[in-house]
Amino acid sequence: MVEMANALPAQAYPKARRIRFRFDQRDTHDKYFVENDMVYSHFVAGMSGAFPAGEESFIRSVRRVADRVTDPVLKKRVTGFVGQEAMHGREHRKLNDKLVELGYPIKWLDSPQAIERTQRLERRLSPEVHLAMTAAAEHYTAVLAQRVLGSDEIQAIPGDPEVWNLLNWHALEELEHKSVAFDVFRAVGGSEATRIGVMLAMYSLTLPLTYVSLAIAVGRDPNARRQPVRVARETYRLFTGPIFRGLMPELAKYLRPGFHPDDIDTSRLLDRWQRQLFGADGELVDHLK
Ligand SMILES: [Fe+2]
Ligand SMILES: [Fe+2]
Repeated sequence: MVEMANALPAQAYPKARRIRFRFDQRDTHDKYFVENDMVYSHFVAGMSGAFPAGEESFIRSVRRVADRVTDPVLKKRVTGFVGQEAMHGREHRKLNDKLVELGYPIKWLDSPQAIERTQRLERRLSPEVHLAMTAAAEHYTAVLAQRVLGSDEIQAIPGDPEVWNLLNWHALEELEHKSVAFDVFRAVGGSEATRIGVMLAMYSLTLPLTYVSLAIAVGRDPNARRQPVRVARETYRLFTGPIFRGLMPELAKYLRPGFHPDDIDTSRLLDRWQRQLFGADGELVDHLK
């Protein structure tokens, strides 16, 4: 029992914070809310657009097997995971409404048709494969979260302050619950072959999917068509910058047999940001309801 407690990550029970962001405080928004960078802004908008429907799929994958989870600690962690992901989806949808108003082509990602297509696909997958996709996706979000919170270079990027607040809160909670889906996968007997095979497929699609979806989004922006040199310069900067530099090797750590998300120690980073955002004088305490 003592051994088990020691093996738990710093935040044993992720807890959903009831929080509210305010994206409509200003009369006008700059369309390119990340550093006035068109490509970077489309990249962040695309991620934000994909989160709500993706997170709902993560929740469904865990719920499909929840009745097979017997460990009371893991059950509580699942409750925290579901609560956090549901809240992420809700707040990102508020931002996404603003982004759609600004002209970002992200509405289709969260459309009833897209959600229905995803659910049809899920029904064809075994619960084990569906959950393996979630566990792998959670490694992506954990690696990105570690970068966002751990890199001074990324934090120094100027942008809309409330968008940054949302991203920092989301990143923090992704680190808090980074091993929950993984541990559920193991607890219900998920095999290493499935875990690694699913990640291998997702890993090989990562860059092609990112390039293609970003090219489509930017290609539909009238400003991009008028400024091809700017687009080329900003694309180069994005893919050689602090988000993508060295990203693929970090994602590949998940492919190692025997890997566990807690092998990557993020406890000190987590501790620092928990205090910075939600400590006694935390920057986002006034956002809590
Ligand atoms: Fe999330
Ligand atoms: Fe997550």
